[in-house]
Amino acid sequence: MNVYDSDRMGDVLAQEGYVATDVAADADLVILNTCHIREKAAEKVYSELGRLRSFKESGMLIAVAGCVAQAEGEEIIRRAPYVDFVVGPQSYHELPKLVSNATSLRKSAGRTSEIKTDFPAKSKFDFLPAARANGPAAFLTIQEGCDKFCAFCVVPYTRGVEFSRPVGSVLDEARQLTKGAAAEITLLGQNVNAYHGDDGGLAGLIRKLADIDGLERIRYTTSHPLDMDEDLIAAHGEVSQLMPHLHLPVQSGSDAILARMNRQHVADDYLRIIDELRATRPDIALSSDFIVGYPGETDADFESTLALVDAVGYAQAYSFKYSKRPGTPASDRDDQVPEQVKSDRLEALQNLLKRQQLEFNNDFVGQMVPVLFERRGKFPNQIAGRTPYMQAVHVNCENADEADHFLGKTLPVRIFGAFANSLGGCLETSIKQWETNLVEPARG
Ligand code: 5AD
Ligand code: SF4
Repeated sequence: MNVYDSDRMGDVLAQEGYVATDVAADADLVILNTCHIREKAAEKVYSELGRLRSFKESGMLIAVAGCVAQAEGEEIIRRAPYVDFVVGPQSYHELPKLVSNATSLRKSAGRTSEIKTDFPAKSKFDFLPAARANGPAAFLTIQEGCDKFCAFCVVPYTRGVEFSRPVGSVLDEARQLTKGAAAEITLLGQNVNAYHGDDGGLAGLIRKLADIDGLERIRYTTSHPLDMDEDLIAAHGEVSQLMPHLHLPVQSGSDAILARMNRQHVADDYLRIIDELRATRPDIALSSDFIVGYPGETDADFESTLALVDAVGYAQAYSFKYSKRPGTPASDRDDQVPEQVKSDRLEALQNLLKRQQLEFNNDFVGQMVPVLFERRGKFPNQIAGRTPYMQAVHVNCENADEADHFLGKTLPVRIFGAFANSLGGCLETSIKQWETNLVEPARG
């Protein structure tokens, strides 16, 4: 979501004549787009600001955006007074005004920093310029905020109440992206499957998106089990563009912990959803988020998480040590788990998940899979893309020209090697075959 937000900030500032640079020292304006979800991510902001400070003398403006800006606006200015302005996630359309205010403020003697973190009545989406696709795989935010209030999570506070963009505006943006470079769109939202555009839920939206010419692949993330309704599960069996991969976080396999997390379901509910998904789309690959060492988590609770992982069999997953977040109910609990116990549990869980991921990838060796090539690899003749199941695939082409030619296309790839985080494959297609239509484009 922050990648999408950063791109949209770039779109807004492009109207003011700004262009992106990879070199911080060259920039007239640096915006740190930040994450507040865990303490480590939030603390990184301050070390990053320290690094940027030396460029200030050359006249660079420094701003902080994102959820740390939203949650700690005053604190940022206190710890880093050289920051010119702080802007929350709901106010990116105001960037031109914030930049011009900061520029004139800098010239005045009593320089102050502006903090823009109120929740405006009108949605920023009504003001942002049209999105531009900058690659074959694009993101599109359709929903923001969250009303679930899991006891560990800052999102309901930093991103605010749940909001769904109207269907029409989502379809317009999707058409725009597809007319550009995008062949794949990932629909984004903190609670994306709670989407409720004007005339229906996420499943209805996905069916409408599937009618857009040239949109080969549709994905969505991140979902909550409670909003995984029948219609959405059914869409996985019906819509061929909807990719057979789902990120469905469960956080823990223990009912006692799930209750204390306020997740509003038990482990069996989750397993039932997985069964239904697999009945609808047998090859669906699953991914999840896990938190270990939640306050009060016992060895037996943790064993239940390992048992759930065993029962599901994940293609991939993210796991984190519980991190105390200011203002959330879990942070006040007096049954916090010692750091060493958290570390040991994280290691055990990650070992199990890594084994499952390698097993999942190994099953593809020797198979032919459709890969959408998204970007160049490390070497001049290498291209990288993804399978329908989200695995990264690296392929070496004959030469750099061929590599260029195949970027943005979906091609059949023979997989010859499997690693924990990627696959190696080769093209059994040449440019000649492709151009003379001897090779059918591989639909996702
Ligand atoms: N501590 C650790 N992990 C967290 N997450 C959210 N809040 C916390 C926290 N306080 C994790 C959850 C969520 C993912 C985006 O981040 O697993 O699904
Ligand atoms: Fe946070 Fe997701 Fe829970 Fe909402 S549903 S509070 S975003 S973990």
